[in-house]
Amino acid sequence: MGKPMRIGILSAGGDCPGINAAIRGIGKTAIVNYGMEVVGISNGFSGLVNMETVQLTENLLSGILTLGGTILGTSRMKPFRKEDGDTVSDKPLVIKKNYHALGLDGLVCIGGNGTQKTASLLAKEGLNVIGIPKTIDNDVWGTDTTFGFDSAVWIATEAIDRLHTTANSHKRVMVIEVMGHTAGWIALYSGMAGGGDVILIPEIEYDLDHVADVLMKRSQKGKDYSIVVVAEGIENPKNKNAGAFVAKKIMKKTNLEVRETVLGYTQRGGSPSPFDRILATRYGAHAAELINQGRFGYMVAINGNNTTEVPLEEAGGKLKLVPSNHELIERGRRMGVSFGDVE
Ligand code: F6P
Repeated sequence: MGKPMRIGILSAGGDCPGINAAIRGIGKTAIVNYGMEVVGISNGFSGLVNMETVQLTENLLSGILTLGGTILGTSRMKPFRKEDGDTVSDKPLVIKKNYHALGLDGLVCIGGNGTQKTASLLAKEGLNVIGIPKTIDNDVWGTDTTFGFDSAVWIATEAIDRLHTTANSHKRVMVIEVMGHTAGWIALYSGMAGGGDVILIPEIEYDLDHVADVLMKRSQKGKDYSIVVVAEGIENPKNKNAGAFVAKKIMKKTNLEVRETVLGYTQRGGSPSPFDRILATRYGAHAAELINQGRFGYMVAINGNNTTEVPLEEAGGKLKLVPSNHELIERGRRMGVSFGDVE
């Protein structure tokens, strides 16, 4: 029997529900099925630069499936980005040196767009890398969905349901700002699941005069409250908080009573939904399988109902935005939901 393979796992970028389920999926498959050794790297790429590691045993991987956040910690360090005054970053070299010093045969990088980009650059530098896409934003190109998204949609939908109560009792317009960075996935899905009347996403240009008109017409029809779901990334000339901007403008243009709620980081917290636990487990197990086969330079992905992989070189750093002809948008429009544009 040869020396067991030794793999490293890190999580980078914003945390989200399901990272621990993915760590468990990789780790348990690697240890139980393939007899590998697994090293956890703390705080994203910064742990590789600073050699902060922990040996992950089967025992340490037990009991983490349902935990939010990441047991490894995370950071937004981008090792290829130059610091002020530097001509070139020396971190990739340090990472390469430490990867070999740790005796790694492979490295799994769990993260969003930025992380997949870094993973593809490290693969180009000759390291054996596998990417696992995670983010509440669901904006990673090359996969149907990322884990974290379903949990965030649950949280945002539940909040919208609760805000309906006050909207109804007080006859108010409730504006709810959700996360999503430059993509509108969370707003679209939670807006539709929560019965939003107006949903504003970055991918569709909105007109606030038109939104005001839609809300006034609802009011004239006797619908005396409305729910407006706003993605944080919508075009916002004042570069302010998007929800506050929209709420203020609507109030001015309609004279209706308007209140605004920003859901913020609550969308990234807590236990992952069953869907995200399963997705993260599938991704993790598939990553371990690829490593065992010696297939590197891929990001694991879901295509239809199949667990698969795409070359990191293709996926790394590319955004998946909501197409303006997305089925949910078309269906919503036919039911009277406004997306803020004059159709
Ligand atoms: O990518 C996840 C996300 O929560 C985005 O929705 C949001 O724009 C961003 O991270 C917030 O970043 P930070 O954690 O650095 O404040």
